[in-house]
Amino acid sequence: MKICRSIQSLHTELPAQAGKTTGFVPTMGFLHQGHLSLVRRCREENDLTVVSIFVNPAQFGPAEDLQQYPRDPEKDIALLEKENTDILFMPENDEMYQQPFRTYINVEGLDKMLCGQTRPGHFRGVATVVLKLFNLVCPARAYFGQKDAQQAIVIRQMIRDLHLPVQIRILAIVRDSDGLALSSRNVYLSPAERQAALSLPKSLQKAAVLVSSGVEESQVIRESMQKELDRDPLLATEYISIVNLQDLQEIPVIEAGNTLIAAAVRAGRTRLIDNLLLGDLSC
Ligand code: PAJ
Repeated sequence: MKICRSIQSLHTELPAQAGKTTGFVPTMGFLHQGHLSLVRRCREENDLTVVSIFVNPAQFGPAEDLQQYPRDPEKDIALLEKENTDILFMPENDEMYQQPFRTYINVEGLDKMLCGQTRPGHFRGVATVVLKLFNLVCPARAYFGQKDAQQAIVIRQMIRDLHLPVQIRILAIVRDSDGLALSSRNVYLSPAERQAALSLPKSLQKAAVLVSSGVEESQVIRESMQKELDRDPLLATEYISIVNLQDLQEIPVIEAGNTLIAAAVRAGRTRLIDNLLLGDLSC
């Protein structure tokens, strides 16, 4: 695996691979099996697999966990070597955001819904860095997780709006054996918080059971989820949203093949998200 720690180094490496189909997996590191599922699929579908690790300051709010965000580059490198990654791009912040930096991507409307309500500027930071990374890596395909469904929808919209020559694949949520969705931030959880956090996937399982038994009213599904999330005093619900996949507007009745049921909670100081997708996001 070639490790490129600068744009110059990536620009030297990529032409050597000309003619190959490039697949790209952007990450912020502290890799787990969710990230690695994207890398594996990327390996299967492309000649060249490029992974990036960059903790992007532009997507963290001033009161968020940029400084504490977990990092373990040596372990990440070992994991990616094992997956036969071809190129790991690990740029420095100063180079990604040369000062003065003035150009941002706003995917209007979509960035205000769901997580955007409590994380203003987050999706602006995500869209901006993902476009910058696409420009640097020039992938034919890019791989994202359904775990961050709103992020995937924002990027899908950006690709359409800006005619970017990239296909995106959105892959299923990888979970721990107890059902909790894998996340780099799970390391923040105390044992009691981690136990409490299980109500999040449980609430979505309840939603799935209701949907498969024919329930269509969003209100009924939301109430059942809220009941599950209220069981543990360590959890505080941020939102439970049932929205369509185009504009992320709340829908009173679920639409088969076009609905996202998403929730965010806080367990102590840790924010957790999870969702159930009734439809397909790849394009
Ligand atoms: P990060 O949180 O490191 O996630 C990188 C990719 O892994 C994202 O596409 C995310 O949805 C996916 N992922 C995370 N947990 C997953 C799980 N349990 N199962 C499957 N996939 C999972 O998302 C980001 O980084 C950043 O916002 C980024 C896109 C890199 C831009 O900075």
